[in-house]
Amino acid sequence: MSTHPQPDIHIFPTPAALADEAARRFVALAQAAITARERFTVAFSGGSTPRALHQRLASAPLCNAIDWAKVYVYWSDERLVPPDDAESNFRMARETLLDHVPIPAANIVPVPTVGGTTEDAATAYAETMIAQFGSELPQFDLILLGMGPDGHTASLFPGQPEPTAPGDALVLAVHHAPKPPPDRVSFSYKLINAARTVLLFVAGADKAETVRQVLRGAPDRAKLPVQGVQPTHGQLSWLLDEAAARDLQ
Ligand code: 6PG
Repeated sequence: MSTHPQPDIHIFPTPAALADEAARRFVALAQAAITARERFTVAFSGGSTPRALHQRLASAPLCNAIDWAKVYVYWSDERLVPPDDAESNFRMARETLLDHVPIPAANIVPVPTVGGTTEDAATAYAETMIAQFGSELPQFDLILLGMGPDGHTASLFPGQPEPTAPGDALVLAVHHAPKPPPDRVSFSYKLINAARTVLLFVAGADKAETVRQVLRGAPDRAKLPVQGVQPTHGQLSWLLDEAAARDLQ
C-alpha cells in the first residue's frame, strides 16, 4: 500500500499547450519564491522536451515577468561533455533561454564537465550546491524532470545502482547510460525528493505505455526509475500531453 498521495496529473491537448502550462507554472513558482525568499532556485533537465518551455520563458511577456537577477539555475543532470558540445544540456539551455534573459552569469551553475573524472564532477557539483544553499540537503524551489521511454528520469536509468538501492549522495556519477552519451552526472533521489516542487514534463506517444506503467502499474523503481521521484514534503506534478497520456484511463 503506497503511503504516497495520489499523483497530481495534468493533461494537455498538444505539446504546445503543455509547454504553455509549464512556462506559466515556472513563472508563478519563481514569483512566489522571490517574494518569499528573495531567490528562486531551479534545476533544469536535459533532452528535447524542455526546449519549448525555455523558448517561452525567453520570450515576452514571460521573460519580463521574472526578476532574473534572483534566479539561480542548476542542472538535474548533465552529460560529461564540454559545455559547447552539441550534447550538452547546459548548451541547450544557454541557446534556448539563458542567452536571452538578463540572468547574471554568477547565477548560472553548470556541472563542471571538463578537467576531471565523472566522479570529480559529481563531487564538485554537490560541494558547490551545499555551499551556495548553506545546507547539507539543498532544497530547490523547482526541479524540472523529463522521462525517457524506458522510465528513466534525470540520468537515473533502469538497473543502475541508485534506482536499485538509493544511496546518501546528493549528486551521482553515472556510467554506461543506455541513452548516449554514456557518462553523466545526475541528481540523486535524495536531492530530487528534497525539492519544494518537482514538475515531470512528458510529451509524445512513444512514452504512453511507460507513463501507464509508472502511474498505474506496480511500483518497481529499479525497472522504472521515475517512480522513485516522491518528494518528501514537496509537490510532484505530472504535466503530460494527450499523446503521452493516451493509455491512462
Ligand atoms: C538527458 C535528460 C533525460 C531526459 C529524458 C527525456 O540528459 O538526457 O535529462 O533524462 O529528460 O531522456 O528526454 P526527451 O525530452 O528528449 O524525450
